Amino acid sequence: MTSRPWLSIILAAGLGTRMKSAIPKVMHHVAGRPLAVHAAAGAMAAGATRFAFVIGPDMDAARAALAEFAADAQFFTQTDRLGTANAVLAAESAIADFEGDVVVLYGDTPLLLPDTLSRLRAELDAGAGVAVLGCEAADPTGYGRLLLDDTGALIAIREEREASEVEKRVTLCNSGVMAFRSGLLLSLLRRIGNDNAKGEYYLTDAVEIARSDGLAVAVVTCPEDEVMGVNDRVQLARAESLMQKRLREAAMRAGATLLAPDTVTFSHDTRLGQDVIVEPNVFFGLNVVVGNNAEIKANSYMEHARIADGAVVGPFARLRPGAEIGPKARIGNFVEIKKAVIGAGAKVNHLAYVGDASVGTGANLGAGTIICNYDGFQKHFTEIGEGAFIGSNSALVAPVKIGEGAYVGSGSVITRDVPPHALAVERSDQKQVPGWASRNKEKRQK
Ligand code: UD1
Ligand code: CA
Repeated sequence: MTSRPWLSIILAAGLGTRMKSAIPKVMHHVAGRPLAVHAAAGAMAAGATRFAFVIGPDMDAARAALAEFAADAQFFTQTDRLGTANAVLAAESAIADFEGDVVVLYGDTPLLLPDTLSRLRAELDAGAGVAVLGCEAADPTGYGRLLLDDTGALIAIREEREASEVEKRVTLCNSGVMAFRSGLLLSLLRRIGNDNAKGEYYLTDAVEIARSDGLAVAVVTCPEDEVMGVNDRVQLARAESLMQKRLREAAMRAGATLLAPDTVTFSHDTRLGQDVIVEPNVFFGLNVVVGNNAEIKANSYMEHARIADGAVVGPFARLRPGAEIGPKARIGNFVEIKKAVIGAGAKVNHLAYVGDASVGTGANLGAGTIICNYDGFQKHFTEIGEGAFIGSNSALVAPVKIGEGAYVGSGSVITRDVPPHALAVERSDQKQVPGWASRNKEKRQK
């Protein structure tokens, strides 16, 4: 394996009119991450050292989001959509300054695997000047066809519009991913013309030019799914589904049990420990980390949350950003946790809201406990001490502090701090009327 640095150029200029969207195509998400970031992440995982995104005019928001992914990425604007070769040439200065290989990727192709990119680069090591990633297409319509000679060497890539009837029958297609050996790319690009049906500068013409220069051109293949491009929402959903399948399989291979894998949705960054059990219909939003032996029961929804070893969440639980569930803690049905640290072994088992709070080790929040964290203007903090017991249907009006080992009687509305080990009850005395029920019954039966 070579240690030559390599630059990944990601073509992301297309607005994608078929998406019918106010945001550019490559910024639509799969598994919680923009398509173009998936493309770049694949290259990063395969060892790309530099990134250049070619974007369209009016894509400032996209630029900011993409810059977050790779801080030192360079951005180039392709002003007019004059074709893929023209798009790559927009990054001319990045290519000219660079000593190493260049791999061109499409920003709307989120499923490409790092290993495939490594195989492509290996062809450059083996002496190819250009390496093209191809796939056997179930339906080749719309793709450029890879035309091979008798020895299996690539002669040319023929775009659909220029292809003869015979050429159209070729099913080996161009994925769009191409790799170029150090220093060759600019000279090839500058010789590409636009004398074709679309009047575009086709990057694919680089193949014939390279051949006429006497350079070896290699083809590497991968499954069609891996290079599927997203052009509309139907394809977006298909890419999502393929990505989910991949994420589920990775989770299971890493030691998690998924009872009904097809019903579990992951984000690209979900992290599950060993022996985690995930029941059906669970949604992992962005940035969720689950420790070993934790259980996520059916129909739970989580995002930006940490779940420690041995904790049990759900069924029907919602963990919102900043939920930190301690070891062996239990979060039960119809419980919502936001920006709150739940101590080890603490229990919030039924019908509760816990927001902007810390709950001590072993504390127990009864059914219907509500933390009133918001006064209509500001959020306030609630602290519940170790081993405290909050009776059912209590409202804790923040800011408020329940001391360690304290006890809150059911149905209380707590507005003042409760000292450690004290009892706080806030409700009217119970009235008793002896014999009232039987007298009432007699009266009604008459
Ligand atoms: C391209 C390939 C074709 C391949 C197919 C795979 C060329 C000439 N053809 O065809 O061989 O089978 O992809 O999907 O390369 N783009 C720009 N600026 C442009 C033109 C395109 O940034 O001026 C970007 C697009 O946003 C897209 C990618 O390049 O991400 C491919 O462009 P597209 O027009 O979709 O090419 P195809 O005709 O599909
Ligand atoms: Ca396309």
